[in-house]
Amino acid sequence: MDRILTLEQVEAEDRAIGRKHVAILLAGIVIGALVGVSVLWAMGPGLPPGPPSGGAATVRMAGVAFVPGVLNVAKGTTVTWVNEDAVYHTVTSNNPGGPLDSPNVNQEERWSFTFTEDGTHEYHCTPHATYDFQGGMWMGMTGKVVVGTGQGGGGGNPVDLPHTTFDAATAPLAPGTREWNITLVAKELPLAVGKGVPYAAWTFNGTLPGPVVRVRQGDTIHLTLVNEGTMNHSIDFHSARINWATAYRDVAPGTTHTYSFTADYPGVFMYHCGSGPVLVHVANGMYGTMIVEPAVDPRPVPDREYVLVLSEVYASDVVNANGLYYGDVNKMLAVTPTQVVFNGYAFQYHPGLGGQALPANAGDRIRVYVLNAGPSLIQSFHVIGAIFDIVYVENNPANALQGIQTWTLPSSGGAAFDLVIPDPGLYPFVTHNFAYTGLGAVGVFAVT
Ligand code: CU
Ligand code: CU
Repeated sequence: MDRILTLEQVEAEDRAIGRKHVAILLAGIVIGALVGVSVLWAMGPGLPPGPPSGGAATVRMAGVAFVPGVLNVAKGTTVTWVNEDAVYHTVTSNNPGGPLDSPNVNQEERWSFTFTEDGTHEYHCTPHATYDFQGGMWMGMTGKVVVGTGQGGGGGNPVDLPHTTFDAATAPLAPGTREWNITLVAKELPLAVGKGVPYAAWTFNGTLPGPVVRVRQGDTIHLTLVNEGTMNHSIDFHSARINWATAYRDVAPGTTHTYSFTADYPGVFMYHCGSGPVLVHVANGMYGTMIVEPAVDPRPVPDREYVLVLSEVYASDVVNANGLYYGDVNKMLAVTPTQVVFNGYAFQYHPGLGGQALPANAGDRIRVYVLNAGPSLIQSFHVIGAIFDIVYVENNPANALQGIQTWTLPSSGGAAFDLVIPDPGLYPFVTHNFAYTGLGAVGVFAVT
C-alpha cells in the first residue's frame, strides 16, 4: 500500500527514533543523514589556522536572549552560540570593530569563537538590541563573556561555521512506497566548503549538496519548491520528462511552486536550480542527486552504499563584509576552481587532512553512487588500489561495464560503481583529473 509522507512527517518520525540531523528520509529510510560535523577553522586570511586548545562552552540564543547572559570561561575556551529561535541573531561586540562579529546565525545554526586572552567581551544581537544614548549602553538582546581575570585585551579567533553536508552512507531502498511528496527549500546561507573557507552558499535545504532523493523507477514524485532566498530560484530534475518551461520556471522569493512527474528511468540523476545564470546558481551550491533504482533489479545486493557528489567551488580571493568568501563569476567562466569537493567540503573524507574516512570491511561489495554536479568539469572517478568490478552507467543494470579502472562522469552525469576490496588498508578515491585532486577531491575508504 502506498504511503505518502511529507518531509516534516518523515523528519518527525526519525527524530522520534533518535536519528540526528536528518536531511531527508523517505518513508523512514535514511537516504542522507546530515552529519552535524563541526569543522574547526580560522576565519579569513591572516589568522592563525588550527583547532583551539582548551575547553568549550555554549550560549543558547533562545527566546530572543542569550542564555546565560553572563558567561565566565578560562582562557583558551571555545564558546559556541546556538540559535534555537526561528529568527536569525548575531553575536556582535558592543565595541565597534570588536572581535565578536558573527555572520547572521539562522535557526539551528551556530557560531563559535575561541577566547585566547583574558578580557571582558560585551556583545549584542544586531537586529534585537538598540543603543540607549542617554544611558550609554546596549539594551535588549545582550550578553557578556568574561575570560579569565576579565582584565586585558580579550583577543581570539572565530573558528566555526556549520559544515553541513549529508552523510555519504546510505542504505538500500525498501519496497513499498510508490508516491513521494518531496519539499525542497531554496536557502542562501553561510557554509564552510573547506577548512578556512566560510562561503556565501546558495542551497537546497541548507546543505551542500542538497538532500539525496531516492525512489524506484515508475514512482511518482510530487515536488514542492519553497523559495526562502532573496532572489529567483527554480528546480530542474534530470530524472523527469516534463514540460520544463512551466515545471522549471523561476520561483520568486517567498513563494512556492509544485509539479509532479514519474521517474521513468533508473539513474543517478542531478537536480539543480535552473535560474539564470545557471552557472552561478549551480556553482554556489544549488545541486543535489536523485537516485532512481531500477524497477527490476537483478544486481547483487551491496553490503555498503555511499553517495558521493563531485562539484567545483569558485571562491573569491577576499571575503565580503560578512567575512564570507563568495562565488567569483570570472573564475566560473574561466573554469579555474578553488576547490573541487566530494559532498560539498574539501577533503572531508581524508583522515590525513582532518577528515573522516568512509569505512568498509574487506570483501564487502561497496556500491558508490557518484554524481558529477559540475558545473563545468568532466571528472574521472578512480579508487587507488582497486578496480571497479562493475560500473552501472546511470544505475541501470542494462548498462553494466566490467573491470573498469576509471570512469568518466560528464557534468551532470552519474553512475553506480560496484567494487570489492579484498585486503584491509586505506584506499583513496579520487578524481583522476589530478589538477583538481589536490583542491579537495580525494577521500579514503578505510577497509578493515
Ligand atoms: Cu537558484
Ligand atoms: Cu540540468
